Amino acid sequence: MEQTLPPGIEQILIDAPELAAAIRRMAAAIARDYAGRSLVLVGVLKGAVFVTADLARALSEVPDGPTDIQLDFIAVSSYGNAHRSSGEVRLVQDTTHAVEGRHILIVEDIVDNGHTLHYLRAMLGNRQPASLRAAVLLDKPYRRAIDVPVEYVGLTCPDEFVVGYGLDYQERYRTLPYLAKLRPEVLPA
Ligand code: PRP
Repeated sequence: MEQTLPPGIEQILIDAPELAAAIRRMAAAIARDYAGRSLVLVGVLKGAVFVTADLARALSEVPDGPTDIQLDFIAVSSYGNAHRSSGEVRLVQDTTHAVEGRHILIVEDIVDNGHTLHYLRAMLGNRQPASLRAAVLLDKPYRRAIDVPVEYVGLTCPDEFVVGYGLDYQERYRTLPYLAKLRPEVLPA
């Protein structure tokens, strides 16, 4: 059946079942690696709020995974325009719990040029965590400006300006349950 798309949306690129399947695959790999350990998921606000929640629930459904899963959040902002961040990242809101001695998994919706994740890995890595890794639902490896490790990747993201499932354009479209392409006329020339 033909689905009516919201104004501004040209096309669904990755539908909700495909996103859910990617999260289940990530959860299976993470659960295996952290079996018997206490794990802290650090979601990066605001884009990663949906993937963090869904990944946490998927992880708790895997048998023989982490002994417990705790949630924390961090917020950063990067200077730049809607299309490209400048590489200058600023901490807006820190985690609420200590990182030292904990197994920390940074959860991101997307890695694009890599500056945000690079900043977060350096900052959290300085706090003596027991371990530090990153899980990213959508990767744009072809856009990397800085090399940064990503241990768990859900999907390679199409080379488009994408919105939905946490990703916004000027704070809109985050709540769409799928990943979509914006109509070009919505974006500045
Ligand atoms: C997005 C995304 C990552 C970052 C990735 O956040 O959630 O945190 O950009 O980009 P990079 O790899 O090029 O650094 P954004 O700055 O749009 O903030 P938001 O999550 O609040 O929408």
